[in-house]
Amino acid sequence: LRTAAVIPAAGRGVRLGPGTPKALRALNGTPMLVHAVRAMARARAVSLVVVVAPPDGAGEVRHLLDEHLTHQTSDGVDVIVVPGGDTRQDSVRLGLAALPADIGTVLVHDAARPLVPVDTVDAVAAAVRDGAPAVVPALPVSDTIKEVSPGVQPGGPEPVVGTPDRALLRAVQTPQGFDYGTLAEAHERVAREGDGATDDAGMVERMGVQVVVVPGHEEAFKVTRPLDLVLAEAVLARRRA
Ligand code: CTP
Ligand code: MG
Repeated sequence: LRTAAVIPAAGRGVRLGPGTPKALRALNGTPMLVHAVRAMARARAVSLVVVVAPPDGAGEVRHLLDEHLTHQTSDGVDVIVVPGGDTRQDSVRLGLAALPADIGTVLVHDAARPLVPVDTVDAVAAAVRDGAPAVVPALPVSDTIKEVSPGVQPGGPEPVVGTPDRALLRAVQTPQGFDYGTLAEAHERVAREGDGATDDAGMVERMGVQVVVVPGHEEAFKVTRPLDLVLAEAVLARRRA
């Protein structure tokens, strides 16, 4: 069975500020999504990449990828483009629906993490192939995290209700890797029952499946706010130097 990468890229990028959808914005002249597709296509295991485009932008994304990638990316990796949905969960589900029947392992990778090193991608894929049904790359957190009470008016003082032990916390990245059947079942359940999970592994956890963490990488950070663009362009410039 083969390994595929699904890249949700259908978000607007509201926190980045007004402009084109986030995945299509340039980093040092190349769209963020192109960096992300290359990062996944370079991985040894990946033989197919499914890009989930903004709902009204699949044509534009296809064109952009054809322009920047050779038709079949390095090593004969196929890249297909499908339109996404209103939420990230919807977009991932639409990406999964486009996979052929011979896919046994799925990596779900945010277009918003364009600089993930190939070694991190390979490590996640290898852990799934070695038998873990759900694998997430993550890093220890450097800030102390406080939990506050819900429902307090935004911007006002928020009462602290607890401080979890930082040594046991991890900040989760992508690609998250899954046995195909496990992830497909989690998404089917969510489509039926609804869910508040903010990542794919969270959905799998709720089914009672054991998720494991492997080491993430600093360069797999998510481009979310304007300052992240500055960091991403600096990392790219350093790689070229
Ligand atoms: N995403 C998606 N479909 C959506 C929403 C998000 O495919 N309806 C994707 C984004 O394109 C991104 C990834 O999910 O690659 C992670 O989401 P996030 O970083 O939150 O990106 P946006 O939703 O675009 O940003 P924002 O929340 O600031 O609008
Ligand atoms: Mg979002």
